[in-house]
Amino acid sequence: MKVIICDSKRQIAQKAGDMIIKRIRENPYLVLGLATGSTPIPLYQYLVNNYQNNKVNFENVISFNLDEYLDNNDQMQSYRYFMNTNLFDYINIPIKKTFFPSKHNYKYYDELIKQAGGIDIQILGIGRNGHIGFNEPGTAFDSKTHIVKLTDVTIKDNARFFNSIDDVPCFAVTMGLNTIMQSKEIILIATGKNKATAIKQMLDNYDVNCPASILKNHQNVTVYLDNDAAEFLTKKE
Ligand code: F6R
Repeated sequence: MKVIICDSKRQIAQKAGDMIIKRIRENPYLVLGLATGSTPIPLYQYLVNNYQNNKVNFENVISFNLDEYLDNNDQMQSYRYFMNTNLFDYINIPIKKTFFPSKHNYKYYDELIKQAGGIDIQILGIGRNGHIGFNEPGTAFDSKTHIVKLTDVTIKDNARFFNSIDDVPCFAVTMGLNTIMQSKEIILIATGKNKATAIKQMLDNYDVNCPASILKNHQNVTVYLDNDAAEFLTKKE
């Protein structure tokens, strides 16, 4: 696991974005795994800027999102809406090649990914509790795409996108930890002090109570941190 500490969110977006752009130039049919949330927004803005300046072409790219709420797929808080308004509406990826897990397809979502050739690069954020996707602490390391009941921590964290905490859906569909581990390359981004404990736990443990710690078993993971998220790391790490 390669850990890169950057001075700003902007620098992370640039480094991670340049890596993705390079991979798309090498393979225009790249399969991207995408995350939602606050963390990847600067990265998506960087990709949009590069597309607008003709530096990258998404016309043959396929994407699979990590997760989606179970029952509010057509609302403004849905992850489909998030991806449309933060990335897809501003680049030339064909919308029919952008996939999300749902209650209809979750049983064969892993198979869909496999049929597309597997995920070449998976982008991940991390929850305060160490979740990746919506794989909450305790999720089996061999899990495939599945329906999950969100924890109180996650519901509280996601309430900022809703009028009230009572509006946050309690159930979601997520790629499993095994699904994520099948990706050929993984980029995990964490910014802000509220991620520092989860990052420290991810690097120190290998434990279902910190789902992100499974990534230590993957051959090709790059972790981008700002100084705040790296707060508890010793020099050695
Ligand atoms: C979102 C996802 C989640 C987020 C995590 C961090 O698709 O899979 O695991 O990456 O909850 O969210 P932010 O970036 O909002 O702190």
